[in-house]
Amino acid sequence: MALLLLLLLMHFLVLPLSVSAAGGGDAYIGVNIGTDVSEMPSPKEIVALLKAQGIQHVRLYDADQSLLLALANTGIRVAVSVPNDQLLGIGQSNATAAKWVSRNVIAHVPATNITSIAVGSEILTTLPNAAPLIVSALTFIHSALVAANLDQQIKVSTPHSSSIILDSFPPSQAFFNRTWNPVMVPLLKFLQSTGSYLMLNVYPYYDYQQSNGVIPLDYALFRPLPPNKEAVDPNTLLHYTNVFDAVVDAAYFAMSDLNFTNIPIVVTESGWPSKGDSSSEPDATVDNANTYNSNLIRHVLNNTGTPKHPGIAVSTYIYELYNEDLRTGPTSEKYWGLFYANGEPVYTLHLTGAGTIFANDTTNQTFCVTKSNADAKMLQAALDWACGPGKVDCSPLLQGQPCYEPDNVVSHATYAFNAYYQKMAKSPGTCDFKGVASITTTDPSHGSCIFPGSFGKKGSKINGTLLAPSNSTSSGCLSQYHYNGGSFTSSVILVALLLNVFVM
Ligand SMILES: *[C@@H]1O[C@H](CO)[C@@H](O)[C@H](O)[C@H]1NC(C)=O
Ligand SMILES: *[C@@H]1O[C@H](CO)[C@@H](O)[C@H](O)[C@H]1NC(C)=O
Ligand SMILES: *[C@@H]1O[C@H](CO)[C@@H](O)[C@H](O)[C@H]1NC(C)=O
Ligand SMILES: *[C@@H]1O[C@H](CO)[C@@H](O)[C@H](O)[C@H]1NC(C)=O
Ligand SMILES: *[C@@H]1O[C@H](CO)[C@@H](O)[C@H](O)[C@H]1NC(C)=O
Ligand SMILES: *[C@@H]1O[C@H](CO)[C@@H](O)[C@H](O)[C@H]1NC(C)=O
Ligand SMILES: *[C@@H]1O[C@H](CO)[C@@H](O)[C@H](O)[C@H]1NC(C)=O
Ligand SMILES: *[C@@H]1O[C@H](CO)[C@@H](O)[C@H](O)[C@H]1NC(C)=O
Ligand SMILES: *[C@@H]1O[C@H](CO)[C@@H](O)[C@H](O)[C@H]1NC(C)=O
Repeated sequence: MALLLLLLLMHFLVLPLSVSAAGGGDAYIGVNIGTDVSEMPSPKEIVALLKAQGIQHVRLYDADQSLLLALANTGIRVAVSVPNDQLLGIGQSNATAAKWVSRNVIAHVPATNITSIAVGSEILTTLPNAAPLIVSALTFIHSALVAANLDQQIKVSTPHSSSIILDSFPPSQAFFNRTWNPVMVPLLKFLQSTGSYLMLNVYPYYDYQQSNGVIPLDYALFRPLPPNKEAVDPNTLLHYTNVFDAVVDAAYFAMSDLNFTNIPIVVTESGWPSKGDSSSEPDATVDNANTYNSNLIRHVLNNTGTPKHPGIAVSTYIYELYNEDLRTGPTSEKYWGLFYANGEPVYTLHLTGAGTIFANDTTNQTFCVTKSNADAKMLQAALDWACGPGKVDCSPLLQGQPCYEPDNVVSHATYAFNAYYQKMAKSPGTCDFKGVASITTTDPSHGSCIFPGSFGKKGSKINGTLLAPSNSTSSGCLSQYHYNGGSFTSSVILVALLLNVFVM
């Protein structure tokens, strides 16, 4: 007993370590956007879906110019990738790397908030011949960022398959396949010296599938286990309640096996397929996919960390946004998506209390609208505030845009109030506007005008034509969101006239 206590105590002494969250602060959830989709949505439609679902972080598998343009000025953080077939050129030539960075990164920042570059994908396991070039590719890309003074805001790394970690249970005994030490050691040195993070793809689905029944399904799905079924690492006495944490901790231990103890981890891919071959992939089901992804999202956003590093953020990109119907291989390959190409959800995640991301399934969806008897003058003032100092994106209210009609102050103010409220994560006091606004559970979206925070078929399936660039002749100053008058009370008309005078 005394020994146990001592061990536990040592644990507490050892725990507060030097690893801090990648980029500092809270963990976030992102989404991978694969494009092997026969009816791939347009960049505008993709961005509309991301916005409707409150997705703030995405990873692209390339650096698609039109998507990067569509992501400009959205606030969405973007990880771009160097595809594997470009790794050779970049790893062999500083000039090629600089050109890649110039075209795919420098050309887009700061409008598009590129925050990391994933160089290649699972190179050690899928393209081992290119492995010796990884570190030079990372170094060349990094030096191009340094030259552009972007190295502080954009991190460079390379995503690994977790299969390079051997003996991953118990996590404390894990190490990287030593064949790759000549690559891993300089790679970790690079990550450490540039303040970057280890990018890791974590697939409890495959670990479970390949374990021949050793790993219980509940353990893979983050479902509660009876205490006697929890996995305990005999060396550290840490309790593991799910595969995801065990794999992430195995990666921390594998790094410390090479004497690197302060490199954070970002999980670049994790997910669960919603459909598979009925005989060989029986656990690829909608229920399991929903359970895994819902639990994963809550686990990550809760900043739970892992048993080895509690509270240390492990930000994670879900694999993936869309079902990729063109992918080959096992049936499940086509069914990892959260959405169909038309923007309809494959399933509704259970995320009550997890914040605004995929917020549809919070059972208490709320919106902010104008009070029915509100004074029009005050509404106009509040509308101008929301679209100005309040920094709401009011462009959907411009002439020719989806929320222009009905062109009156009540309708425009409702849109802007709600957009502000959703932007402020519905925090208390953000739906007041000097008393002219109130909260409702009824979705005020109408026709093609989809309100922020609105979901479902209506919310995610965006009519691309209606989101086409505006032909508006608006002058772009403060009152461009102003409705053009009409049959309202005289005071409204007066304000409208006054403002129109200023605009014209
Ligand atoms: C870009 O993303 C970073 C990291 O989340 C954030 O700190 C920064 O404020 C963002 N920049 C802009 C212009 O939104
Ligand atoms: C690569 O190019 C960068 C500028 O883009 C330069 O600062 C750096 O010294 C070059 N490195 C090598 C090894 O040539
Ligand atoms: C380690 O990596 C090498 C090279 O890819 C591979 O041949 C070997 O099978 C791996 N070892 C294990 C145990 O997976
Ligand atoms: C890690 O550090 C220990 C102690 O300093 C040393 O014995 C060991 O060789 C180092 N391992 C590696 C891979 O550098
Ligand atoms: C959230 O974190 C707290 C501790 O910070 C923990 O007690 C709780 O179980 C976590 N919830 C989930 C869903 O992970
Ligand atoms: C949902 O709304 C009800 C009634 O307003 C409230 O009691 C409950 O706590 C809310 N649930 C969540 C998860 O916000
Ligand atoms: C949102 O919830 C509604 C029911 O409230 C449901 O019909 C719809 O499918 C859900 N949408 C998403 C994206 O989950
Ligand atoms: C998209 O909008 C156009 C023009 O309003 C309309 O004709 C078309 O039917 C809409 N398509 C869908 C799928 O809603
Ligand atoms: C934009 O306006 C011009 C001139 O009024 C018109 O010819 C053109 O068709 C409009 N384009 C769109 C996309 O509405």
